[in-house]
Order: sequence, then C-alpha cells, then structure tokens
Amino acid sequence: RTVAVLLAGGTGTRLYPASRSHRPKQFLALGDDDRSLLRRTADRAEFADDLLAVTRGEYADRVREEVPEATVLVEPAGKDTGPALAYAASEVRERFGGDAAMLCLPSDHVVGDGFRDTAETAVDVAVRTDALVTLGIEPDRPATGYGYIEPGADRGDHSEVAVFREKPDAETAQRLVDRSCLWNAGMFAWTPAAFLDAASDGPLGPLADALEFGADPAAAFERVDPVSVDYAVLERAADVRVVPAAFDWDDVGAWDALGRLLDGENAVLGDATVVDASGNVIASDDKHVSVVGVDDLVVAAYDDRVLVVPREDAQRVREAVAALDEDG
Ligand code: GDD
Ligand code: MG
Repeated sequence: RTVAVLLAGGTGTRLYPASRSHRPKQFLALGDDDRSLLRRTADRAEFADDLLAVTRGEYADRVREEVPEATVLVEPAGKDTGPALAYAASEVRERFGGDAAMLCLPSDHVVGDGFRDTAETAVDVAVRTDALVTLGIEPDRPATGYGYIEPGADRGDHSEVAVFREKPDAETAQRLVDRSCLWNAGMFAWTPAAFLDAASDGPLGPLADALEFGADPAAAFERVDPVSVDYAVLERAADVRVVPAAFDWDDVGAWDALGRLLDGENAVLGDATVVDASGNVIASDDKHVSVVGVDDLVVAAYDDRVLVVPREDAQRVREAVAALDEDG
C-alpha cells in the first residue's frame, strides 16, 4: 500500500509578499497553471492508494478545501519537516502498519512528465531495501538552497548514497556539482518502520519514541526544536538510496524560480508595462506595475506590500521578512 504524504505546512517566507503566513505559497497558483501548487501536488500523486496531508492548524481548513480527497493530519506546532514527517510516519504506521510505503511530497514544486515512473521505482526500492529513498535531480547550477547527494554503489534501478549534504555554502556547492552530485528533490519514499528507526538516534529521537509509546503529540512536539528532515535524518542515516529523476523539476521556493519557469525577456506574472528592461521578475495581484530601464530585479507587489530585490539575491527575502518582525 502506498500513502502519499503531502507536506503542506510551510510558511513560504521567500515568496513574500505573494506568500504571507496567512496565505503561504502552497495555496498560490504560481507560474502558468491556475491550480495551486498543493492541488498540483495532489493531482501528481493520484496513483497512490491514500493521500495524507500534513499541515498546521491555521492551514487545515484551506488544505481540506484544496484537497478534499486527502486525510488531513494537523501537527500540534509547525516545527519544520523533521517533526512533521515523524508525526506522519507514526500515523501511517498506526493506520496501515509499519511496512506500508510513504511517498513524501513537498507542495512547492513544479514537476514535468515522468514523475509517476520515478516515484513508483522509489517506492519499490524503499519496500525492497528498508532504506530511506531520495529522488535525485541533475543540477544545472551550484544552488545553495538544496540538498546534495553523492551517489555510491550502483544497484541497477537506484544507487546507494555515499554522502547527503544539506544546503552547502556556495563554494561547497560548486565542488559538489563538479563531483557529479545530484540535488535532493526533497521527495522521499520509505516505510514508517525504516524512517522512525533512522530518526531514533538524532534530534527527532525523543519525539519518535514519545509517539511510539502513545504520548500526547502536543506535549511531545513542545519538546522538539524545529529541524528539517534533511538535517535531522538524511544527513545521518546509515542507509540512504537515490533514484535518478526522469522528469523536469523546479522548486518554486523563491522569486528567482519564476524567472526560470516563465518565458520571455522578463518573467511577468500579472499586469505590467516593461520598457527597456530585461531579466526582471515582475509579479503583482491587481496592481499594474511599470518597470523602466532596470535589469535583473525582482519587483513584487501584493496587498499593500512591495518588494524589490536583485534577482540573484532572491533567497535573501527571508531577511526582509524577519526584519518586518511580524507574520510576513
Ligand atoms: N507540515 C509541514 N510542517 N510542512 C512543512 C513545514 C512544517 O513545519 N515546513 C515546511 N513544510 C513543507 C513546505 O510547505 C514544503 O512543501 C516542504 O515542506 C519543503 O519545505 P521547504 O522549506 O520548501 O524546504 P526547502 O526547499 O528549503 O528544502 C528541501 O527541499 C529541497 C528541494 O526542493 C530539502 O529537502 C532540500 O534538501 C531539497 O533540495
Ligand atoms: Mg522548497
């Protein structure tokens, strides 16, 4: 049995001001598709036997609206993907047993054809090997916002993972690209038993144990620090495998992604006048934006907010949101 686990609890800070904490990116229809990113993720996973969407309380109703066919698991607190996936694993184990397959899917990706084949292979490998299975993407730049995977021994339909390295600095990222490493797509396949076992000797250990022994999830979550699954489990796990992805892929995590997804001299989402300007990402809701004589900027205007940032610094938007000292 395959349970697709949709991660739908992030706040999407780097896409401010389109994404705000009351309206995070998974509910937005970014790019050239009018379905929300979350809806697209659910559609992509329709071959799974069950859909389990994991999110935080504030977003639960919205998730139910977007994906009515999913069971919604509400985490007691938003503590990043590590605790969210530990909670999901204990839920799947309870409902379907420790040997069911979990196919874990972030809801901030744009994915091309061929996803299903790769995903089914990953599930198959996970069930066969009891390993934690990642999907690997061929990198085209030394991005610092992704995890890197150095493949080890070839196992036919997949490889062992020699090293998993989350979000390296720019220099290390370049070295990893030169060594033919892959990007971690952030999509995983594993069984609850394998995942909880691997999680038990890291920062998620106390949470995994508490959930196993039926403790109150709210109390257990209070005692765990926010940590992503990449740092908490994948960087430390003994047996990680990688299935190379046979599909186009992008993470719509920050504004520069729009520049890669939309064609043209400037990437325009919404209504804009552009004069003598190139390489800009221009996005707005009902506002008409005019851009004259500037290159390689992000200009985003939503609600009563305007953001201007060099496109190459798109990851730094989180600093602006942190400085606002409010909910985004
Ligand atoms: N339920 C829940 N709770 N979901 C969450 C939480 C949380 O507290 N925090 C984040 N998410 C969801 C986000 O909504 C998103 O769909 C997904 O988990 C991944 O979180 P991101 O914050 O977007 O992660 P990332 O992009 O920085 O890094 C991950 O993905 C990269 C590829 O896109 C890592 O796995 C990297 O290694 C990977 O390369
Ligand atoms: Mg992401």
